[in-house]
Amino acid sequence: MYSKFIIQFPVLWLLVLGSSRIQGQKDEDSNEFPENSSEMLNPESNSLVPDCPKKCSCLPEGIVDCGGFSLKEFPIDVPELTNHLSLQNNQIEEIFPEELARLYSLETLNLQNNRLTSKGLPEEAFEQLENLNYLYLANNQLTMAPKFLPNTLISADFAANNLTKIYELTFGQKPNLRSVYLHNNKLEDAGLPENMFNGSSNVEVLIMSSNFLKYVPKNLPRALYKLHLKNNKLEKIPKGAFSELSELRELYLQNNKLTNEGMDNETFWKLSSLEYLDLSSNNLSHIPSGLPRNVVLLHLEKNAIKTIGKDVLTQIRNMEYLLLHNNKLKAHGIDPLAFHGLKKLHTVHLYNNQLDRIPSGLPRRVKTLMLLHNQISEINRNDFATTYFLEDLNLSYNKITSSQIHREAFRKLRLLKSLDLSGNNLHTLPYGFPKNLHSLKLKVNEISSIPRGTLSGMSKLQELYLSNNKLKVSSIHSESWRDLTSLKILDMAGNQLTAIPSDLPESLEYLYLQNNKITTVPEDAFDSTPNIKGIYLRFNKIAFNAVKESTFQRLKQLQVLDIEGNFEFSDPLKNGDHSDEEMEEDEDEGEQDVEEK
Ligand SMILES: *[C@@H]1O[C@H](CO)[C@@H](O)[C@H](O)[C@H]1NC(C)=O
Ligand SMILES: *[C@@H]1O[C@H](CO)[C@@H](O)[C@H](O)[C@H]1NC(C)=O
Ligand SMILES: *[C@@H]1O[C@H](CO)[C@@H](O)[C@H](O)[C@H]1NC(C)=O
Ligand SMILES: *[C@@H]1O[C@H](CO)[C@@H](O)[C@H](O)[C@H]1NC(C)=O
Ligand SMILES: *[C@@H]1O[C@H](CO)[C@@H](O)[C@H](O)[C@H]1NC(C)=O
Ligand SMILES: *[C@@H]1O[C@H](CO)[C@@H](O)[C@H](O)[C@H]1NC(C)=O
Repeated sequence: MYSKFIIQFPVLWLLVLGSSRIQGQKDEDSNEFPENSSEMLNPESNSLVPDCPKKCSCLPEGIVDCGGFSLKEFPIDVPELTNHLSLQNNQIEEIFPEELARLYSLETLNLQNNRLTSKGLPEEAFEQLENLNYLYLANNQLTMAPKFLPNTLISADFAANNLTKIYELTFGQKPNLRSVYLHNNKLEDAGLPENMFNGSSNVEVLIMSSNFLKYVPKNLPRALYKLHLKNNKLEKIPKGAFSELSELRELYLQNNKLTNEGMDNETFWKLSSLEYLDLSSNNLSHIPSGLPRNVVLLHLEKNAIKTIGKDVLTQIRNMEYLLLHNNKLKAHGIDPLAFHGLKKLHTVHLYNNQLDRIPSGLPRRVKTLMLLHNQISEINRNDFATTYFLEDLNLSYNKITSSQIHREAFRKLRLLKSLDLSGNNLHTLPYGFPKNLHSLKLKVNEISSIPRGTLSGMSKLQELYLSNNKLKVSSIHSESWRDLTSLKILDMAGNQLTAIPSDLPESLEYLYLQNNKITTVPEDAFDSTPNIKGIYLRFNKIAFNAVKESTFQRLKQLQVLDIEGNFEFSDPLKNGDHSDEEMEEDEDEGEQDVEEK
């Protein structure tokens, strides 16, 4: 439900590094080479190369593409000097060693998305390929990796097979090896050799997500900058597992079974380049100590975190995003100095916890603070006294009452643009809203009145949402809208209004009044709002003869007039005297009526 918060982060630069989606892979993890090599080819070039296999396309540079022809067998007539061979998206089940061995010039071999089994891919098949750099075997049915791969290898993709076993020389002794993709397999700890990358110290990308590992593999190559181990069964990170990885920038450990007992205060400490750490969806009860200082984005959501100690976060000087939603935090479990000195921290998610008040010591530079879905019942005078930079505050779905919002609680929030107090227990519009708000949401409360001055001075407010409350025309102070000179959207649907509110601001463009008890629309109802584009009056109690067409005809900007679900006994469209084509109505629903007794 809240995943959009994450997707919207401007951190794509981290996620995009060296990736372009590989066709057919099941994980989002991906590879860095063209997945469809036929894109490089001109199919008509076949004729230029005399010994090109039937149906395939060939280029003089030794490129042969036989992808996507439902081939059941390895083509026997591939020219001997082929450098790049694509056989992806076929139905090949078996390759004979000699078929492959004669292609000793191969640099790229793409066999992804076939039906190869380990039986059909003989051990010695790759031994002669002394030039092989890129090997793509994703989306096959291999259960064991080849025992030997050539030491010229740069990238190997075995994603989405059924691998349970890897051998010492599958990936070992390959000084040029840079990337290894093993996600979506069935690897358990016992299926990995003791030192899987012995002699392959230049591996930079290792993707082993979605396997069955319980332990983080040891002896990982020192050059790693991207390590993905999400969706495994990790319980433990052995001592020293990450202690040599000073180049690592991106570490995915989410969706495992990690507990605080499975790590210690030095587990992450040496990861001095780490910028992106994801520990979400594990079983942590507190934030691990010794997190490295350069982490920019820290995912800790969906754990069982109850406390934030004084010294666990403060050393992460570069942290910008801290995601702690869906945990078990209570306000008193958060040390008042927990965020001290975190000057770059601008986005904090604490929603879906057990906070009973606003935590003290909020980060001073926070811009976006998500506190929705907690148990907060009051906002005290100094709760936001130091968060001058706050722009977006979401306090929706808590237990806040009007009388528990201190009149001066928001006094320092000069930059606040968006405030959401929907889904609380407000009975009246409280005083003291920040004057520079652009958007104020107060939906789904019990608000029955807008007292004098509660909206005064809010000349930047563009959107005001008051839907699903208990407002009556008589309890809205007559000058309420006076200062709202920028207001474009006013949503008062689902209240108890019996008339269109008067003196609405001239800037208004959209007025939502559906599900009220409005009975008439006076001819001058919209005289103060000549710029209005949408009027929503669906499901009120307006009698047909209580509306004049002329009321709307002078509204030159009007695009939508929704007045369905009124008119107890008649329907204006079916009566045929309604000619304004700009008015949008749905004829079929014209007779609905929600008369309440
Ligand atoms: C490969 O690329 C060619 C040419 O762009 C395209 O027609 C074909 O559908 C692609 N095949 C696959 C399996 O993506
Ligand atoms: C691979 O695993 C899948 C899912 O468990 C299974 O359906 C399939 O038969 C397996 N294939 C082989 C070759 O073992
Ligand atoms: C690593 O490879 C070297 C040869 O380069 C070998 O002597 C050593 O035993 C290997 N170590 C492990 C742990 O496999
Ligand atoms: C980890 O804890 C031990 C003992 O509690 C301490 O000696 C060590 O300095 C700590 N390491 C770090 C990186 O904080
Ligand atoms: C989380 O850890 C606690 C003990 O720390 C354990 O009782 C609980 O079963 C674990 N939950 C899961 C989902 O593994
Ligand atoms: C606050 O969170 C709620 C989710 O409950 C969301 O619908 C709403 O759009 C958020 N408000 C703002 C201003 O982002």
